[in-house]
Amino acid sequence: MFYEPKKKNHGLAHNPFNSLIVPRPIGWISSLGLDGVPNLAPYSFFNAVSYQPPTVMFSSGTAATEDGLKDSLRNIEDTKEFVCNMATWDWRNEMNESSKSVALAIDEIAMTGLTTIDSRLVSAPRLAEAPVNLECIYLKSVSVPGWSDADNFKIIIGEVIGVHIKDEFINQEGLVDIKALQPIGRLGGNDYAVVNAQSFFSLKRP
Ligand SMILES: Cc1cc2nc3c(=O)[nH]c(=O)nc-3n(C[C@H](O)[C@H](O)[C@H](O)COP(=O)(O)O)c2cc1C
Repeated sequence: MFYEPKKKNHGLAHNPFNSLIVPRPIGWISSLGLDGVPNLAPYSFFNAVSYQPPTVMFSSGTAATEDGLKDSLRNIEDTKEFVCNMATWDWRNEMNESSKSVALAIDEIAMTGLTTIDSRLVSAPRLAEAPVNLECIYLKSVSVPGWSDADNFKIIIGEVIGVHIKDEFINQEGLVDIKALQPIGRLGGNDYAVVNAQSFFSLKRP
């Protein structure tokens, strides 16, 4: 089959785009509002951008708020700091729960029963339950040209200035134990993938 996204002529039950770039890592983004209220939300238009300096990006769509901004985006543009927490199998339900759209004044982290710890280098809190936390400073936003006002996506790029890895996830060889971490990734619709001992494989570079 062939379709042109702008013509929406895929003829399928759902727009298949989200099922075609998979699995997408999930940036579970914690940030702090100017009012000091912590915020947490998952973003799967998320990835590493560069190695040195280590940078990450996530992309936010529009929200049904007065200014059309999702809280994470607004907070980060206001405070210039955020944390990317790794979403893993053990915390999949809380991750999903934290995608609920709630008023800015509500502490979403407390709402999901999760807890935070102070970050070392940024004011945004990090998720205590997450095995990996990347403390980030905001570098820039890039607007993605949309087809209409409703389609506005904005990419946030941040530099990772501090990295926490729970010691239990570093193995005897001094490597990150991905099979034990069990990171989850987003597929299309409501579907996810998990990296574990069954799905893991290695390839030597030629
Ligand atoms: C697994 C998952 C991935 C998501 N990825 C994105 C994304 O990449 N971009 C986006 O705008 N919304 C995404 N969402 C929806 C946001 O999490 C949701 O709009 C949330 O309420 C935003 O919260 P905030 O306003 O506190 O930032 C995702 C939801 C889930 C469950």
